[in-house]
Amino acid sequence: MGEYADLRALLQGLRAPMIVAPMLRVSGLELTAAVCAAGAIGAFPTVNARTPERLDEWLSALDQLQSEGAAPYCPNLIIKAPTLAEHLGLICAHEAKVVITSVGSPAPVIEPLHKAGCAVLADVASLAHARRAAESGADGLVLLTAGAGGQTGWLNPFAFVAAVREFYDGVLVVAGGMSHGRSLLAAQVAGYDAGYFGTRFIATEESLAQQAYRDLLTTSSMDDVLLTKAFTGLQTNMLRPAIEASGIDPDRLDESVTPDLAGRLFGDGADGPKRWQQIWSAGHTVSSVDRVAPAAELVAQIVDEYADCAAAQDRAHLSMRSR
Ligand SMILES: Cc1cc2nc3c(=O)[nH]c(=O)nc-3n(C[C@H](O)[C@H](O)[C@H](O)COP(=O)(O)O)c2cc1C
Repeated sequence: MGEYADLRALLQGLRAPMIVAPMLRVSGLELTAAVCAAGAIGAFPTVNARTPERLDEWLSALDQLQSEGAAPYCPNLIIKAPTLAEHLGLICAHEAKVVITSVGSPAPVIEPLHKAGCAVLADVASLAHARRAAESGADGLVLLTAGAGGQTGWLNPFAFVAAVREFYDGVLVVAGGMSHGRSLLAAQVAGYDAGYFGTRFIATEESLAQQAYRDLLTTSSMDDVLLTKAFTGLQTNMLRPAIEASGIDPDRLDESVTPDLAGRLFGDGADGPKRWQQIWSAGHTVSSVDRVAPAAELVAQIVDEYADCAAAQDRAHLSMRSR
């Protein structure tokens, strides 16, 4: 197999070890480009481009930015999407250095991506999935933990990383709970190499999210986040006010919205309120969203917080040692 990017070296080249997470109907070219230009990895689901021609254009624009010194961009392949083979082919024809896989085993795409020079991060929500992704040769794992936005994990982030570190020494990225540079530093102390920031970046000027969604994030707190399988069939964190605004009682969801009814109400082509389009998702980190900001400003803020917290920790250690 040819040379492919060294994930740890890529992370070391960033202003802070952060990845702005891929989000359906949220992360497009503009957000990804702004994040990469600001010195963090910007990820986006390839399905957000909607057509292969548009995906090709996005990848060309991001190649250009990367060649000018921006941080690496990172396409997200949804393994179960019908467009997988086509999107994989397009990525391999461009210059991406890292790809994230989600919803399915990364096994079928690892070899072609390595041949094309890309390292592979696979997202996982259980120890069994983590073991399988590690065995299939993923260079890193994204551990989906309790409280993450979108289709979430349920495991405690500290317990999860400790258990995975028993058998895996590749890169580990935490998804869920990253709201501040301080959380990122704490994640590293716990054993992670990097952190995913999702929800915070929905409320940016460059995101594809509707204005009403962005505004709702600024007024919602983690008490408004409801964990339910009702809309997607998988554990997903949704915003209660968005469910209420669609005329559905969030407290009676699991009895009133069966997966079958959800498919008919919210599935593609259905007439009812659409999940992701009107029934919006957010993680527990929604409590830290207080304004809609330019993405570069948010990256810079998190980088500064991370550096300040790291310096404070160093000073605390020094003063302990000198006692
Ligand atoms: C609206 C939304 C859409 C998402 N879509 C995707 C997706 O297409 N692919 C993916 O791998 N993860 C997706 N996620 C999950 C995020 O990549 C990430 O795991 C999560 O946002 C991290 O938690 P946080 O939001 O608290 O930062 C989505 C999350 C949200 C909030």
